[in-house]
Amino acid sequence: MLPTRLLATRTYSTASNRFRVVEVGARDGLQAEKKFVPTEVKVELIDRLSACGFSTVETTSFVSPKWVPQMADHNEIVKKHKRFNGVSYPVLVPNAAGLKNALATGVVDEIAVFGAASDAFSLKNVNSNVEDSLKKLLEVTKIALDNKIRVRGYVSVVVGCPYSGDVKPEVVARVAETLLEAGCYEVSLGDTIGVGTVKSVGKMLDTVLKSVPANKLAVHFHDTYGQALANVLVSIEKGIRAADSSIAGLGGCPYAKGATGNLATEDLLYFLKGNGFETGVDLEKVVETAKWFNSAAGYDKWSRVGRAISNKMEAAQKC
Ligand code: HMG
Ligand code: MG
Repeated sequence: MLPTRLLATRTYSTASNRFRVVEVGARDGLQAEKKFVPTEVKVELIDRLSACGFSTVETTSFVSPKWVPQMADHNEIVKKHKRFNGVSYPVLVPNAAGLKNALATGVVDEIAVFGAASDAFSLKNVNSNVEDSLKKLLEVTKIALDNKIRVRGYVSVVVGCPYSGDVKPEVVARVAETLLEAGCYEVSLGDTIGVGTVKSVGKMLDTVLKSVPANKLAVHFHDTYGQALANVLVSIEKGIRAADSSIAGLGGCPYAKGATGNLATEDLLYFLKGNGFETGVDLEKVVETAKWFNSAAGYDKWSRVGRAISNKMEAAQKC
């Protein structure tokens, strides 16, 4: 039987008004940032996010520091952040070397593996084409499961690739199926460069949903062209009840030319609440966390909703 902590992540059924928001700011949000964010700031960010009520907070990547220098402090991050009851803390792992390092910390209990739906992107991102990278991911997934580590899967560039253009939905479906068959508890479909629209995302989902049930899928939108919330809506209409987002809309992928920030968590939470979904996440606390992060890291990054709520909170304090 799986240890209790490994059961923390819920998946919600198609008709549910419960929705799981996976906070990826500390990993996807920061990985492409040139200026190194101090480790203690990242650790406090993760702790503050945990206190907001998320059930999944992605924390870092066990990738090569030569490839992604911002994630070089992964060992310290996973050892120093607090672990709240009922919260999963996946770390991104690209290969067996990354998994070995993650296991050696003795504290990692969930990993995320990432495949792609285009050879050109896969080669830039992990130096292997889709097939070879899947072989490595399956090996990593098996070792992780043997070690009682939960595995979440990602498929990147699900509608458009920055190097080869439109992506075939059938390839997305095949990669998602392969990851689920290997034992991932969920697969997150990533529009890595944020080019998707209701039409292209809807078409991709229709194909994937022929072979993968909606409660095994999450969506992961970058907001390059401002389409992310519309794409969440079409995903909800098709029965999906989980989405990744990043505080203050931080983010980008170092190997996806033109990829801007992730869908902002604040915008997603406002949208979900306004449309009758329960997430268990405290939006005002997320906005306070964004404000704290801006001052701690020397940033001035706000989502539209984050800025509006912060202004309202400041105005209320002055009254
Ligand atoms: P490679 O060059 O093929 O690997 O890179 P290698 O096996 O030849 O190793 C090269 C060097 O890296 C060696 O060191 C290895 O030891 C070391 P050297 O001998 O030169 O001193 N190495 C490692 N060090 C630490 N941790 C490791 C590791 N592996 C090898 N895990 C590799 C292959 C996958 C490592 C490389 O391509 C890599 O790290 N890529 C990073 C990819 C990445 O982080 N991309 C961003 C995340 S994906 C994403 O953002 C999309 C997502 O958000 C969803 C979406 O938006 O769609 C998930
Ligand atoms: Mg991403």
